[in-house]
Amino acid sequence: MTKNTFYVTTPIYYVNDKPHIGHAYTTIAADVLARWHKLKGEDVFFLTGTDEHGQKVEKAAQAKGQATKEFVDSVAPAFQQAWKDLNIEYDRFIRTTDTDHKETVTNIIELCNKNGDIYKGQYEGLYCVSCETFFTELQAPDNLCPDCGKDVSPLKEDTYYFRLSKYADKLLELYEKQPLFISPPHRQQEIINRIKEGLKDLSVTRTSFDWGIPWPLEHGHITYVWYDALTNYLTGIGYPKKAYTKYWPADVHLVGKEIIWFHTVIWPAMLMSAGLELPRQVFAHGWLTVNGEKMSKSKGNFIPPADLIRKYGVDGTRYGLLRDIPFGQDGDFNEPALVKRIHAELADSLGNLLQRSLTLVHKYCEGKIPSPGEYGKEEQALEEAANHLIHHMDGHIKKVEFNKALETAWSFIGDCNKYVNDTQPWTVSDPKRLNTILYTLMESLRIIAHAIWPFMPGSAENMLHQLGQQRTTQFKFQHDTKGKITEPKVLFSKDVTVDDPFSHLDLRVAKIVSVKDHPNADKLYVVELDVGEKRTVCAGLKESYTKEELKDKLVVLVYNLQPADLRGVESQGMILAAVKKDAVRILQPKGKPGDLVGIAGVPRHPKPVMFNEFTKIKMQTSKTKVLYKDKELTTDEGPVFSELDEAKVR
Ligand code: ME8
Ligand code: MG
Repeated sequence: MTKNTFYVTTPIYYVNDKPHIGHAYTTIAADVLARWHKLKGEDVFFLTGTDEHGQKVEKAAQAKGQATKEFVDSVAPAFQQAWKDLNIEYDRFIRTTDTDHKETVTNIIELCNKNGDIYKGQYEGLYCVSCETFFTELQAPDNLCPDCGKDVSPLKEDTYYFRLSKYADKLLELYEKQPLFISPPHRQQEIINRIKEGLKDLSVTRTSFDWGIPWPLEHGHITYVWYDALTNYLTGIGYPKKAYTKYWPADVHLVGKEIIWFHTVIWPAMLMSAGLELPRQVFAHGWLTVNGEKMSKSKGNFIPPADLIRKYGVDGTRYGLLRDIPFGQDGDFNEPALVKRIHAELADSLGNLLQRSLTLVHKYCEGKIPSPGEYGKEEQALEEAANHLIHHMDGHIKKVEFNKALETAWSFIGDCNKYVNDTQPWTVSDPKRLNTILYTLMESLRIIAHAIWPFMPGSAENMLHQLGQQRTTQFKFQHDTKGKITEPKVLFSKDVTVDDPFSHLDLRVAKIVSVKDHPNADKLYVVELDVGEKRTVCAGLKESYTKEELKDKLVVLVYNLQPADLRGVESQGMILAAVKKDAVRILQPKGKPGDLVGIAGVPRHPKPVMFNEFTKIKMQTSKTKVLYKDKELTTDEGPVFSELDEAKVR
């Protein structure tokens, strides 16, 4: 029996972090799967959300001096916003603090308990708060977490246990019977080995703090955060209401490789204990690294999705994250390679194909898709390739090989470009023949738009609009497609460049904390700034501003200028100002300290910039805007403001 529903999930992300492109990586992948199955006409449910309980989140709230609930309420929307920005079409955003989730967790605990799998005891061992994971002393020698390397702390608490050990054989049987359950297959052996080494019962309650779901079997205990979190996949589709079986079992849980144990061992054991069906597949993808390191705030290689969107657009970002790296493997986020691909594959290959085809239909067919005449050999070949396209891509998507699916799509786009070059429609004088060629192109483009829709929904819809078509589940090559096309519009802009010196600049919003006179220079102030961290710069603003006028102002800081000694004071950067004759007025950004200032379309590859390099980058103001090569300087909150028109910036 084929099931006509498709249920895909992402991990629910801890709210101790803001969303970055690592989270986006999984979420975009899930969105592609969800949309792919929608394209095939299936009834899809796509769940994502946030993991809001546990000690790690509680600590993050304390560090910010906020009440925990207030803190989680302030971070969850950042994830929702990021997914909205990335055109992610989820069906539910679950938060583990949602009230219906508590009901699910309670229900599952009771089912496991009824089955004799919960018992009380004492836990003594080590705990990594960062991974929310228990370890033995053997697993965490030197009291360092084997997973993340951070300190683990000794723990001794009364606790309830889940009888995980009981499920060792059943789990091994599961992997054998369902060979795709742990995917990709190269991840299986490690799990199997670990189970064979011996499976210990799992401590599933904590008593030393209380940010979590109350344990239904005894007051004073709270549910271990993973025991709570995993059940989100049931809550999301309405469990325990019977209707949840419409989508359960899940078709695929997408997860990062670091949490595969929880999903392929603990989760199925919990479900077996509760007597529920098991998911069909857990697919663990590799890590996205930046300059070879896993992203983290402390390493300063943390890229928020909005940074990429600003530079490459939503679809450039989605494409860039999935095109290069085989999904099951680790891979480094390579921005220059991404820019090359945007030029060659998006702007040149696909963009030009659309543009030149539409232009021909305008020129020769008054903007109407013509009726085809007799098909020649070339048309038949293209039609056949078009009809195989979705099928080929489907084969790759089934294996969660996004890079190969995209490669297949672009190989067909290449065929179409070759077809234009071979048939040279602009030289064809027979109108019937010309109509056949142009029809074939229009229909091929319609199919391409469908094929790329899951990956780049905005661009695909833009294409369909230009072709005068609508998205359907009909993506076989038709012979009677009709429609009126629109004026061709550029699909992907090519003005992203890696070579522009501007891309080396790191400009940031900074707030002036204090202003003092420079001890040895009449015209300079020594300004202390908050850019997320503290910076001191020497600024020649003394003749233009009083100290009081500057205090608390937001300014644009050249963040990566080589520090320089200015008469005995180290200046760590430079405040940008508009300068016109004698007038000097600081540029005024919107946002908060640390926010990035940039130009849409110019990628960021900051590296230390010398002062003389900086002076070669010419920015000017025009009315209230600040321009570099005619493009305006902005933050996420809007354009940077200048009080001086037609001034130089330095
Ligand atoms: O583990 N590369 O949440 P989390 C690729 N709350 N993927 C990355 C990534 C990177 N550099 N960084 C993060 C948790 N991810 C638990 C999950 S599920 C019931 C509970 C993605 O905030 C990847 O999907 O640490 C990874 O598994 C997930 O974010 C971890 O998010
Ligand atoms: Mg993590």
